[in-house]
Amino acid sequence: MAESITLQIQRYRPEEEEEPVWQSFEVPRHDEWMVLDGLNYIKDNLDGSLSYRWACRMGVCGSCGMLVNGEPVLTCATYLSELGGGRGPVRIEPLTGFPVIRDLVGDIGDFITKLQRIKPWIIRQEDKPLSQGEYLQTPEELALYQQYSMCINCMLCYSACPIYALEPDFIGPAVIALAQRYNLDPRDEGSEERGDVLSQHAGIWACTFVGECSAVCPKHVDPAGAIQRYKVTATAEWFKSVLLPWGKR
Ligand code: FES
Repeated sequence: MAESITLQIQRYRPEEEEEPVWQSFEVPRHDEWMVLDGLNYIKDNLDGSLSYRWACRMGVCGSCGMLVNGEPVLTCATYLSELGGGRGPVRIEPLTGFPVIRDLVGDIGDFITKLQRIKPWIIRQEDKPLSQGEYLQTPEELALYQQYSMCINCMLCYSACPIYALEPDFIGPAVIALAQRYNLDPRDEGSEERGDVLSQHAGIWACTFVGECSAVCPKHVDPAGAIQRYKVTATAEWFKSVLLPWGKR
């Protein structure tokens, strides 16, 4: 029989309980098991009422983010055997910054609302006729924004961001990185529209460049870099608008 490891899991049913409680489970300790495998073992064998999200099990869907021993991680990409010397206990909580719906499931509606505000799609002032063919890009043009397109909306950066915890209006790291994904795409003509949201205090200026968002990002999107990069753009645009007020932004 395999050795076991203790998982301490935060349980919470907000409609029935005043506050979260911790519950411990013993699960088998296999070298190849991820934290998500431990949760699935509990769900299948010990307590079917445990609630959490996951889908792809391969670091793509972004739905399995949780706090594990206090760190925001993808549970499908975090080995149980590497936590606490492989002996546990391993503490698992929902990502901070989001209201808990149940157990390890947070309500990410705030992120979705903010994401829609920056119009995360290619905006064209005028589409060329289909007869003129597709919009071709060079590898160099793709490289301008490809890093930001790797975001999987996992919310680890929001959980790690101290500003998002203090200023709920802050649109947050992933939204800004995704705005840059489109702003820097040569096919896009919507940067001015996004600028109305990004250039506010609750946009880029709330960020104090703590950098935790980039440290926890499992896809190396570097949202902190995206924010600083847009600060430079916004400052240049502001100077242009002051020095050349008759010119177009
Ligand atoms: Fe899809 Fe973890 S289950 S990223």
